[in-house]
Amino acid sequence: MRQEPTICYSEQISHAVNDIVEKFPKRVDVGIILGTGLGQLIQHITIEKEIPYEEIPYFPVSTVESHKGKLIFGKLEGKSVVAMQGRFHYYEGYSMKEVTFPVRVMYKLGIQHLFVSNAAGGLNPDYQIGGLMVINDHIDLFPENPLRGSNLDDFGVRFPDMSEPYALGLVEKAMQIAKNNSLEIHQGVYAAVQGPNLETKAEYKYLRTIGADAIGMSTIPEVIVARHMDLPVFAISAITDLCSPGNIKKVKIEEVLAAAAKAEPGMGIIIKELIKTL
Ligand code: HPA
Repeated sequence: MRQEPTICYSEQISHAVNDIVEKFPKRVDVGIILGTGLGQLIQHITIEKEIPYEEIPYFPVSTVESHKGKLIFGKLEGKSVVAMQGRFHYYEGYSMKEVTFPVRVMYKLGIQHLFVSNAAGGLNPDYQIGGLMVINDHIDLFPENPLRGSNLDDFGVRFPDMSEPYALGLVEKAMQIAKNNSLEIHQGVYAAVQGPNLETKAEYKYLRTIGADAIGMSTIPEVIVARHMDLPVFAISAITDLCSPGNIKKVKIEEVLAAAAKAEPGMGIIIKELIKTL
């Protein structure tokens, strides 16, 4: 266990940022958080520096030995990026402040855009396994909000606007890139629950009824915090299982990972081409 003095959250962020800047003193333009089974994009980054999470003060660390995370700094399509290899999920037991700590840190490192990917279940009956959904809005069903508690005035306002959490200009560009590359693509509403269990048939029906096209267990906390700081966000889901009536089967993690692997090349093209346009 790491022993660190107890200091307030903003100071923890500053400590983490100062430490990273000492190790990698260059500016970064884009932050990238990659979802379950969607880490291949990192292979396209010309890596300049890797910093394991456990070497960054106050950074959350993975409790699973085999799952060590790190920040990867480098160049992607000419832009300086920082990618998180390994993200933190609420269902793992992290608090919302821990889940979103890296987003605050990346913001302080200077990122101008946040890119997020995830694996999600397809509620919309038009969706296919291995397809992609660009997120154009969300429904937050987590039991806790990352902004709960004293407002971090240095980062944003008490009541941040959420009328356009996803940069719609980037959504349109992504749809065009997908079409140019003949990729199976949709845009839609992502809902997130805490997990870790998957949903019942009645819950899938409910989620569809309230307006969701895809369902997952991540992304929304990071997006809320990014929008608190007025950071433009692009997010995309790989559809890994079908949750529409008549299509619901028992979900096996191997099948989710196989579907993510199928969706991944297309997702990589979209993210790279979008980053090129920034
Ligand atoms: N439900 C919730 N989260 C998920 C699913 C699902 O069906 N598929 C992938 N992540």
